[in-house]
Amino acid sequence: MTDASLLPALQTIRQRALDVAPRIAVVLGSGWGELTQHIAHPTRIPYSELEGFPAATVTGHSGELWLGTLGHHQVAVMSGRKHGYETGAVDGMKTPLRVLQALGCEVLVQTNAAGSLRASMPPQSLMLLTDHINVPQRTPLLDEAGNARFVSMVDAYDPALRQQALTMAARMDIPLHQGVYAWAFGPQFETPAEIRMLQMLGADAVGMSTVPETILARHAGLRVLALSFITNMGAGLSTEALSHAHTLSQAQAGSAQASRLLAAVIGGLDLS
Ligand code: HPA
Repeated sequence: MTDASLLPALQTIRQRALDVAPRIAVVLGSGWGELTQHIAHPTRIPYSELEGFPAATVTGHSGELWLGTLGHHQVAVMSGRKHGYETGAVDGMKTPLRVLQALGCEVLVQTNAAGSLRASMPPQSLMLLTDHINVPQRTPLLDEAGNARFVSMVDAYDPALRQQALTMAARMDIPLHQGVYAWAFGPQFETPAEIRMLQMLGADAVGMSTVPETILARHAGLRVLALSFITNMGAGLSTEALSHAHTLSQAQAGSAQASRLLAAVIGGLDLS
């Protein structure tokens, strides 16, 4: 049975996008917005019309749900997400993800902008997440009861979907790194000492999102695939000055190729 709190948003989506039955939900972070240009027959709904969807407060995140088709699949694409650093709460994406699951989504594809912790993965690189480190050790599952909340995070990033993404990148001749994403709470960037700590912990990239949604998705039984767009080297690893404007301008520069790969990966996913 669908939770009653999800019904208003579900109804709005069903009224506005009559024929859409998405199996794949997508969350677009900085640098990935151009994906929406690949969506065929799109219907756009501002989050302000969808109860429980987040008001966008961060520049570069537009706050719209796009419904339509990418390749072989109908998709529900969230352009803009709620970050923990905006309010302190880390469950801001719980209702949107549950609405999209109630709509039929079985897979969550996530994207983000991140800083690199590896010299061999410079700005403009793309990284497929193999795993993550929840550095703040915060959870979006505090309100959950019962044994389902003790969710396994082994293979949180679905091995079969990852393999498909790697195969598509190779076919398109687009380099795709693989690595571990560390969630830093933000909104301040890391200190150089924190970056050295994260390197020692085994992280390859650092960013301020994605991990809470992965936890929510795994708890809900959704399969997850996630990609990072590397906008900068971690603090202290290069002389470039870090800022949100720098993140956005870097993300803009490489966004066409990133979105082309993402559209091909999603459009070609074999969900069997
Ligand atoms: N640190 C944290 N989040 C980020 C970074 C970074 O260096 N770059 C883009 N998002």
